[in-house]
Amino acid sequence: MQSLAKSTPGPAAIVEALSAAVLVIDADGIICDANPSAEQILQTSLHGLVGHSLDVIIPDDSPIHALVRQVRSSSASIADHGIPLETQRVTIPAISVQLAPVLDSNGRDQGFVVLSLSPHTIAQRIDQQLLHRHAGRSVAAMSALLAHEVKNPLASIRGAAQLMETSVAEEDRELVTLICDEVDRINSLVDRMGLAADPRSLERGPVNIHEVLERACRLAETGFGEGIRLIERYDPSLPPAFGHHDQLIQVFVNLIKNACEVLGRDRGEIIISTAYQHGVRIAVPGAAKPVDLPLVVRVQDNGPGVPLDMQPHLFDPFVSAKPGGHGLGLAIVAKIVSEHGGLVECDSEPGRTTFTVMLPVAAG
Ligand SMILES: Nc1ncnc2c1ncn2[C@@H]1O[C@H](COP(=O)(O)OP(=O)(O)OP(=O)(O)O)[C@@H](O)[C@H]1O
Ligand SMILES: [Mg+2]
Repeated sequence: MQSLAKSTPGPAAIVEALSAAVLVIDADGIICDANPSAEQILQTSLHGLVGHSLDVIIPDDSPIHALVRQVRSSSASIADHGIPLETQRVTIPAISVQLAPVLDSNGRDQGFVVLSLSPHTIAQRIDQQLLHRHAGRSVAAMSALLAHEVKNPLASIRGAAQLMETSVAEEDRELVTLICDEVDRINSLVDRMGLAADPRSLERGPVNIHEVLERACRLAETGFGEGIRLIERYDPSLPPAFGHHDQLIQVFVNLIKNACEVLGRDRGEIIISTAYQHGVRIAVPGAAKPVDLPLVVRVQDNGPGVPLDMQPHLFDPFVSAKPGGHGLGLAIVAKIVSEHGGLVECDSEPGRTTFTVMLPVAAG
C-alpha cells in the first residue's frame, strides 16, 4: 500500500480498523490471520481462528467455500452478496463476501486468499424492503392480468357448464359439477389474493390500529389460532394510522396466521405489540422527500424461524414451505403495506421471528 502522507498508519493498522471481518487463508485452507472485526462477527477469538481450518469455522456446505475454490482456480477477485452465514456460534441472514487472491509484485499467485465478510447494513436492509415493495408492485400488476385474463373466461366457462347441466345425461352431471367446483376454487383463489381490487379505488382514512389488531386477534382465537397464546402489548398513546381498515386487518391476519401455522399448540406464543418510533424517515424512490413511518407494529412468535434460504425472497409471491401453502400471504402483506406507503420487514432466528410493519400516521 502506498501513501502520500509522511506518517500514516501501516496496512496492518488499517486492516484492524476495518468494520468488515478480514481472514487470510493459506494454500491448505488454514486461517493464518484475522482482524478484530472477524473475531466480533464470527464471535470467535483470534486464538480460535488462527491456525484452524476455514471449514471448522464455516461449515462445509456454505457457499463461501465454493467462492474460495473459485478464487484459487481463477486467481481473480470475486464478490457475492446476500448469502447467509451460519456457523456454530452465529447466524446472519445476509452478508456480503469479497475474496481476493494475494499476488506478488510479478502478479504470481502466492496461494493465499483474503476473505472479507460484511453483514448487511441497515441501508441494505432498507433496500431489501424496497425490493419487497417491488414484490408488492409485481403482485399488483399480476392482479390486473388475473382479473382480466382469468376471471372473465372463468365466468364464461361456469356459465357454459351450467347451461350444459340441463342437457347432459345423468351420469355426466358429476363432470359438470366438477367443472363448476374447480372454477369456483380458482375464482376464490384469485379473490383471496385480494388482487382484483384497484388500490386507487380504496378509500383511506384514520384507522385505530389497536382496533384492527384486536379484530385480527379475535379472528385468530376463534379460528386458526386455537390453543396459541396471544399476548397483546399496545402503546395506548398511539395516534391513528392513515390507511384502509379492512386491508390492514388482512395484513395482520396473514402475519398472525403464518405464526400460528408454524407454532406448536402447547408452547406457541405470539406477542403483538405497538410503539411510536420517532425519527424513522425513509427515502422512497419516486417520493419527493423521505417519508415518516412512526407507527410500528410487531408480530413476534417463538416458532422455529423462517428457513435461511427463504429469507431473501420471503415476500415474493409463490414462496412457501408449507404443504398446500400458496405463498401468497406475505406477497399480499407486502402489496398492501407498500400501497399504504409503509414498510414491512422480517427478522428471524430459531425461537424468535419478528415481522415489523411501519405505517404513516393520519394527518392532524
Ligand atoms: N412466522 C413465521 N415463522 C416461520 N416461517 C414463516 C413465518 N411466516 C412465514 N413463514 C414462511 O414464509 C412462507 C411464506 O408465507 P406466505 O404467508 O407468503 O405463504 P404461505 O403461508 O405458505 O401460504 P398462504 O398463501 O396460504 O399464506 C411460509 O410458507 C413459511 O415457510
Ligand atoms: Mg401465509
